[in-house]
Amino acid sequence: MYNETDQRLATVSSEANWRALTDVNDQHTGERIGADRGLAAFRGSRYVIEKSKNFLNARQSLPELDFRQLDNILLAAAESPGTIPEIVNRRIEAEARLAALMDGFTFCLEKRGEKCAKAITPNEIDEALLKSKNLAERQKLWEVSKQTGPALKKGLAELRDLRNRVASELGYSSYFHLQVADYGMSVAEMMQLMDRTVEDLKPLYEQLHLWTRRRLAERYKQQIPKRIPAHWIGNRWAQEWPGLVEAADLDDLFRGKPPEWIVQQAERFYTSLGMPPLPKSFWEKSDLYQLAPDSKRKKNTHASAWHIDIDKDVRSLMSVIPNFRWFGTSHHELGHIYYYMAYSNPRVPVVLREGANRAFHEAVGDLIGIAARQPSYLRGVGLLPADRKLDATQLLLAEALDAAVVFLPFSAGTMTHFEYELYEKKLPPEQFNKRWWELAARYQGIEPASPRGEQFCDACTKTHIIDDAAQYYDYAMAFLLKFQLHNHITRKILKQDPHDCNYYGNKEAGKWLWDILSLGATTDWRQLIRDRTGEDLSSKAMLDYFQPLMDYLKKENGGQPAAWE
Ligand code: ASP
Ligand code: SER
Ligand code: ZN
Repeated sequence: MYNETDQRLATVSSEANWRALTDVNDQHTGERIGADRGLAAFRGSRYVIEKSKNFLNARQSLPELDFRQLDNILLAAAESPGTIPEIVNRRIEAEARLAALMDGFTFCLEKRGEKCAKAITPNEIDEALLKSKNLAERQKLWEVSKQTGPALKKGLAELRDLRNRVASELGYSSYFHLQVADYGMSVAEMMQLMDRTVEDLKPLYEQLHLWTRRRLAERYKQQIPKRIPAHWIGNRWAQEWPGLVEAADLDDLFRGKPPEWIVQQAERFYTSLGMPPLPKSFWEKSDLYQLAPDSKRKKNTHASAWHIDIDKDVRSLMSVIPNFRWFGTSHHELGHIYYYMAYSNPRVPVVLREGANRAFHEAVGDLIGIAARQPSYLRGVGLLPADRKLDATQLLLAEALDAAVVFLPFSAGTMTHFEYELYEKKLPPEQFNKRWWELAARYQGIEPASPRGEQFCDACTKTHIIDDAAQYYDYAMAFLLKFQLHNHITRKILKQDPHDCNYYGNKEAGKWLWDILSLGATTDWRQLIRDRTGEDLSSKAMLDYFQPLMDYLKKENGGQPAAWE
């Protein structure tokens, strides 16, 4: 009964959410609120909570598959307990309104009075931050990218309290605790895992940090700073550092391609592994390309993947333009889509149509992303001219900066600690910005060009803080996991060097991966990773992969002490 009803109500809610995010207006926001309230009333009903608790009390006599379903049902109920309908309704409304504010926002380059004389899209900001060598222009653009903060700050503070209140109803210490519970972990265990990860990667990160400070000081003709000014980096949050390694810059390979080609090429990678083509409805119903800057319609500009009916209706929301970043993001989103397709099979009950855990879901497309930047693949599909040689060390350096090592201090450090303090420690709004920048300084060695007072909320500009609350450690874990999976596939299945490999067209690698995906959440994730790779989740595979960089960076950095403090 639960699976059938949930699937139908979730479909209505997803359809309404899809419309609200792809065409932001009051009517669609209202419809989203209505649909979400219907779903919440079912998922959090007293009946569902009591029944699941009763069944779970008799855990010993439950088959594993039933236990896992009930556990998920109760976790979903904790998001909207029927014992506090007023709070649940307010939370749903606050979430929808805040998302609409963020998704419908116009970034403004030039104001005329209260009006905007010149708007700029997030893609345009990203492009300029990737390319511009003019520091004054960079600082201006970076500041423009933080304009959503003040608009969202009050709403985030209110929403934090509502989310916490909801989570406390079924006994969670905070909303952060409720989200972590999805992994069967305590908050302390999660924070330990994150802290250990940051520590493991620190020596390498410090070398990368020093290398980058020196390189950018030269590029912008400045003194070498202690911390890196945020506007020096080619990403709005300095979560990855693209565009630094000229000898390994793949961006130009994608320029001038039609945007459709970017997504189709990503699909070709998956089908080459023996996975099915995307359903026709994916191409009809998705919203993949960027809107014109003057478009009347507004949509969320952050990429996402959707499983609308928890069955065959899969869609992606993106704003693809032809560049290397969107090439990577397209692989990432299709990873989610192929996961949805794989576990939508009769062996997986509806409530277990999820990743083995959320990090597994995030890891799939990024794993394929490692494979899709290999020179042998790029040459094979005619993207990389045969006579263009790429230096292996430079490629590894670029990958550490834009798709691996640099991301961990941000995800496991700054983001996870900020949300931990936001929810678990009830960080007061008048400290949001101070704390954000203290964490960025401590973990990433990044600082703003000029002091950022509490009139700003720079954390609020990160979409996940608003609409994917208390889950960013998913990505940190996914990054560890993707190197563990990659290591296994290259060494054990392909029998190739992880740094110089080609999975494209390899059906055996594809089947190995598909088998994992098609289990959904029917098995224990710790057991799954152990069974399939022989290891527990750890940073070892990532560190091994980047080991050759350490000596190189030490030499390049002239043996200087690398710590920024
Ligand atoms: N939705 C993705 C991330 O948040 C893709 C992106 O990087 O835009 O996981
Ligand atoms: N997609 C996630 C983000 O944009 C992680 O890379 O932050
Ligand atoms: Zn994702």
